[in-house]
Amino acid sequence: MGNLVLYRKYRPQSWEEIIGQEHIVRTLTNALKLGRVNHAYLFSGPRGTGKTTIARLLAKSVGCSNLDLLEIDAASNRGIDEIRQLRDGIKFAPTAGKYKVFIIDEAHQLTKEAFNALLKTLEEPPAHAIFILATTEAHKVPATIVSRVQQFTFKKLAITDIVKKLQKIVEAEKIKINDDALRLVASYADGSYRDAESMLEQLRIWNENMITKEDIEELLGAIDFEKVRVLSDHLQDSNAKGAIDYIGKLIEAGVDLEVFAKAFINHLRKIMLIKVDSSLVDLMSQELTVDQVEIVKKQAESFSLNNVAQAIKIFTNARNDIKRSPIPSLPIELAVVEIINNKI
Ligand SMILES: Nc1ncnc2c1ncn2[C@@H]1O[C@H](COP(=O)(O)OP(=O)(O)OP(=O)(O)O)[C@@H](O)[C@H]1O
Ligand SMILES: [Mg+2]
Repeated sequence: MGNLVLYRKYRPQSWEEIIGQEHIVRTLTNALKLGRVNHAYLFSGPRGTGKTTIARLLAKSVGCSNLDLLEIDAASNRGIDEIRQLRDGIKFAPTAGKYKVFIIDEAHQLTKEAFNALLKTLEEPPAHAIFILATTEAHKVPATIVSRVQQFTFKKLAITDIVKKLQKIVEAEKIKINDDALRLVASYADGSYRDAESMLEQLRIWNENMITKEDIEELLGAIDFEKVRVLSDHLQDSNAKGAIDYIGKLIEAGVDLEVFAKAFINHLRKIMLIKVDSSLVDLMSQELTVDQVEIVKKQAESFSLNNVAQAIKIFTNARNDIKRSPIPSLPIELAVVEIINNKI
């Protein structure tokens, strides 16, 4: 098993191994207990949150044999032919057990004709058929289909839940990574367990010794330009409310504030260098595109050199305070307010 990628090796085999999605697990396991499994489901929600995994578990739980489990990837088989084949095949009783299960992944990609064919089947499904449509884009699934299925909306997974599961893998695989770094991996994954797991896999290859926060920053190119630009714009406009709202959004999106603060300090440094001497812009040509350099130049116009120097000091202190603060976002919020007040 040693060479198996983590996601194959640690794919949940039982309901207990599912993290998050409690409402879905509860409803489905109850339905199983009561023998009231539906004939058609729509699993919608963000990538890597367990849609395919739970679909397979449901198939396994109703005693569906591999021979009677059909997985259709609508992204590569958009056509009506596949759905027709499915419609023809569906008439025949299962080879073993009571059910035939059809998992249609990326269901939103089906063509209109394929949806129509599917609809006919959903109108009168044979007693032995269970359909599970999975999609990241539920709004693209026609209302006529949605009205015939039981819909479950999957949620992004909580950082703490992701960390807990990663922890088990770290132990089993003897991966050397500290808790801080593991949390950062989970926060970068933005609610997707698959992303968290594949990041861990990359890091393991990247650094066979102790994996640190710095490895992660390096590997992921840290925070993208757009995020620092938005905050910088708010400071430029002296818009404290906008800045604080935006910080809240970053947290919601799972951005690690320490990593963000570091990226922002780096951005302020660029503004400072341009203010010191516009020829220093050459130092940035490696890191920024031509358009991004223009944005930084424009932002530099609305700060005095003194403002920027102050802002860098304030942010550097704020970054160091995050760890100790009772409210992690507070030091950054204070920094924003202080910088805007200094400007006036
Ligand atoms: N809620 C979860 N609990 C436990 N493991 C999970 C969960 N969600 C995802 N995983 C793990 O992440 C991997 C990817 O999950 P899965 O294929 O079910 O995601 P998905 O929601 O179908 O994503 P996509 O929309 O990209 O197809 C699986 O191998 C599984 O091990
Ligand atoms: Mg899937």
